[in-house]
Amino acid sequence: MGTFNFGVVGGGTMGNGIAHSAALAGFDVVLNEMNEELCRKALNTIGKNLQRGVDKGRMTTEEKESVLRRIKTTTSLDEMQSRQFVVEAVTENFEIKKSIFQKLDSSCPPETLIASNTSSISITKLAACTSRPEKVIGMHFMNPVPVMKLVEVIRGIATTDETLEQVMTLAGKMGKTPVEVNDYPGFVSNRVLMPMINEAVYCLMEGVGSAEAIDTVMKLGMNHPMGPLTLADLIGLDTCLFILQVLHEGLGDPKYRPCPLLVKMVDAGYLGRKSGRGFYKY
Ligand code: CAA
Repeated sequence: MGTFNFGVVGGGTMGNGIAHSAALAGFDVVLNEMNEELCRKALNTIGKNLQRGVDKGRMTTEEKESVLRRIKTTTSLDEMQSRQFVVEAVTENFEIKKSIFQKLDSSCPPETLIASNTSSISITKLAACTSRPEKVIGMHFMNPVPVMKLVEVIRGIATTDETLEQVMTLAGKMGKTPVEVNDYPGFVSNRVLMPMINEAVYCLMEGVGSAEAIDTVMKLGMNHPMGPLTLADLIGLDTCLFILQVLHEGLGDPKYRPCPLLVKMVDAGYLGRKSGRGFYKY
């Protein structure tokens, strides 16, 4: 595979975490955002998250600086031309992702692999927007990316064995544990996680228990690191709702219908940690 160099499109929560993990693993990273301010913001967040390691004595300030130096930011997607591997981590909107995939497909050399960090959009459908569907794959990292070991690697209908193997190796070099799954709505992670979160919201709506009670039952009773409502606030309630809609529409089974309370909270702008209020106040 040689020395893979890395491109990340999108510097939000997931994108900056992916750039962080790649640079920490020694890869040379180009991170693309829409404007200079967002580029600075992404680098700042990576710096702060790396500082956690310095504070804990796991790395020196010099090591942190050298990781940061491996990340170059750019506002131009054309700079992805030099990349052998590009992962897209922009907002969960098919039209936006499609336009990025088409731009990457026309500017990157034919051997470049293009991955999406999508949590629920079809990899097969994104791949079909390009002229290289065999080199398109899903690489679904978990939040917070620098901490979570899993990468769900999603194989679209046309993804070749070679592409799959390269991406499994790459994820391993990033210190992650890749797991291969096939392209169906929600893949495995969200097909299993979101119905649990949705059921927790139903429990809250029906008064089966308070938010604290529901979360405590799952934390102490099932050893989950955080309760489902706390986790929903971390993921973002709009994201949870979007994924449930994908499951509901894509699989057509009423068991995936989003809880009306979740819909109401998103309508109110209660989106979780990022908006200061979700099931809890921040
Ligand atoms: N960057 C770098 N390091 C971070 C970090 C970040 N953003 N966030 C936390 N950390 C580090 C902390 O510094 C700490 O390091 P040490 O172990 O060296 O002390 C470690 O992670 C644990 O953090 P905390 O001590 O602050 O808190 P915690 O023990 O409660 O753990 C947690 C926090 C790791 C988030 C834990 O609660 C957890 O695992 N929660 C569940 C997360 C989860 O389920 N994520 C998946 C969400 S679903 C998804 O992402 C996919 C989707 O499609 C929706």
